[in-house]
Amino acid sequence: MAILSLITQVVPSITSVFLYGTLSLVVVFSIHILSQLVVPRDPNQPKLVFSWVPFLGNGVEFGMNPIGFIQKCQKLYGDVFTFKLVGKSVTVCLGADGNQFVFNNKQNLSSAAEAYNDMTKHVFGFDVVYDAPHSVFMEQKRFIKAGLTLESFRAHVPLIVKETTEFFKDFKKPTGYMDAYSTFSKLIICTASRCLMGKEIRSALHEGVADLYYDLDQGFQPINFMFPNLPLPSYRRRDVAREKMAELYSKIIRRRKEENDTSNNDLLQALIESTYKDGTPIPDHHIAGMMIAVLFGGQHTSATTSAWTTLELANRPDLVQALREEQIAKLGSLKADLTFENLKELTLMEACIKETLRLHPPIFQMMRKVIADKVVFEKTGHEIPKNDFLCAVPGATQVDEQYFNEPLTYNPYRWIEKSDPVHQMEVGEDANADYGFGIVGISSRSPFLPFGAGRHRCIGEQFGYLQLKAVMATVIRLYDLSLEEGKGVPESDYTSMVVVPKHPANVVYTCRE
Ligand code: HEM
Ligand SMILES: *[C@@H]1O[C@H](CO)[C@@H](O)[C@H](O)[C@H]1NC(C)=O
Ligand SMILES: *[C@@H]1O[C@H](CO)[C@@H](O)[C@H](O)[C@H]1NC(C)=O
Repeated sequence: MAILSLITQVVPSITSVFLYGTLSLVVVFSIHILSQLVVPRDPNQPKLVFSWVPFLGNGVEFGMNPIGFIQKCQKLYGDVFTFKLVGKSVTVCLGADGNQFVFNNKQNLSSAAEAYNDMTKHVFGFDVVYDAPHSVFMEQKRFIKAGLTLESFRAHVPLIVKETTEFFKDFKKPTGYMDAYSTFSKLIICTASRCLMGKEIRSALHEGVADLYYDLDQGFQPINFMFPNLPLPSYRRRDVAREKMAELYSKIIRRRKEENDTSNNDLLQALIESTYKDGTPIPDHHIAGMMIAVLFGGQHTSATTSAWTTLELANRPDLVQALREEQIAKLGSLKADLTFENLKELTLMEACIKETLRLHPPIFQMMRKVIADKVVFEKTGHEIPKNDFLCAVPGATQVDEQYFNEPLTYNPYRWIEKSDPVHQMEVGEDANADYGFGIVGISSRSPFLPFGAGRHRCIGEQFGYLQLKAVMATVIRLYDLSLEEGKGVPESDYTSMVVVPKHPANVVYTCRE
């Protein structure tokens, strides 16, 4: 009897919960959809991209194929439009003028820190990068840039070549498959940590540092951008790893200071010896934070760029042949030592890296958050309200036929022949601006911005090119490359923080004795 009455009580309440649940969902969805159709939008604001799902908005479509989504919206709404991304309102500004608007926006109008810091402070640590006042961050960028000297670049090249050669010695079979992204991730963490992190970290890499790095990395996923703090194990491991990493650096710094060891001509030493403008030395936890930020700035970007370059070259034996001929012509032979000086002569190699960055920019879109009451995109007169995210998409301008002939074709020679429309464009004057870390060197109005522009422009470009050229020049000496039978260059996977080749992305390698 008791059970029966329980059932008679519970069943209707389950049914009604279900009923009310469904009803309220219908109401929420209807309000969301109707409000877009009925409520008039401020005509000064950019058009709003329609979405069916409340809160998520266009998140799913954007998440699966952001470039495709943006190109579709561009056809419908023009160069400026707003879409909803998991509760955030994102205003996309396309074209050369869109790039200029976002990258050249005044510091009191929109902010990168407001867009990124919720996520980055948990990985880099506090008081550095976006968690420092803007002017202090610009000083920190100056320190890092100053630590990457020509002298250190000269020392880096042989180290990179050695790391690469030794890495591939583990490939015992004369021919086989390698997964492009995971292979080059493993290689780049060795080359980048050897050059940028210093020899102490490099030698501890396989005694736990790689694991710390992995845990930190798990705090740098799109989910962390949307939800910076969730009570999940991965978030806790991220925090533990950050503290351990900071301790590790503090130990190294203390040892170097105590033993008066100035023999390491590396970035860490440059930071130890720098002082802020007001005369204060850099606290250890700032140094550790900057080192972690550099590791992150340089790791995935270079890993995916070398993976994509290898895939593109595997698809083009003619290019590999031409690259070897270039080495023979410029360096004398395929056995000549690679150096900082002679890498500069490898014009086609450089053009290949550049072309990879055009077609597969690791960071294809960049965000700022509007902090003034509104900002005005002068080109179109649109007003973008406070708390909207501004989004520049070099990944779209870089494949726009307005700027590049046959934009989807991998053609490194375009950078040598300079016949694309992009080369006829006027250079904007902001190329000469100095935001506190030296002249940025490229106008934010450029359609080709794989390293960003303006005050947030990358300071690792030179090192990035150097590392990628040294790695790729070595790889084509070691191996013949091809793609798997019947396969082309893979599509892009946008689900991590940088754009990686969609799995499976195998390269067939064959040892050249
Ligand atoms: C192929 C390699 C690389 C690519 C494609 C790349 C890309 C970028 C991009 C697109 C930005 C601008 C972000 C924004 O505006 O929101 C940036 C900024 C930055 N990158 Fe790189 N990067 C690379 C290598 C490196 C390396 C090797 C380092 C370290 C030595 C580094 C350190 C930084 C730093 C410190 C910033 C400044 C962030 C800011 O001011 O907000 N990057 N990078
Ligand atoms: C931002 O700074 C500029 C000067 O750089 C000033 O002219 C402008 O009024 C400021 N805008 C706001 C909203 O504070
Ligand atoms: C550290 O070494 C430098 C030169 O190598 C020397 O000039 C300096 O006096 C030393 N400082 C200490 C505290 O030993």
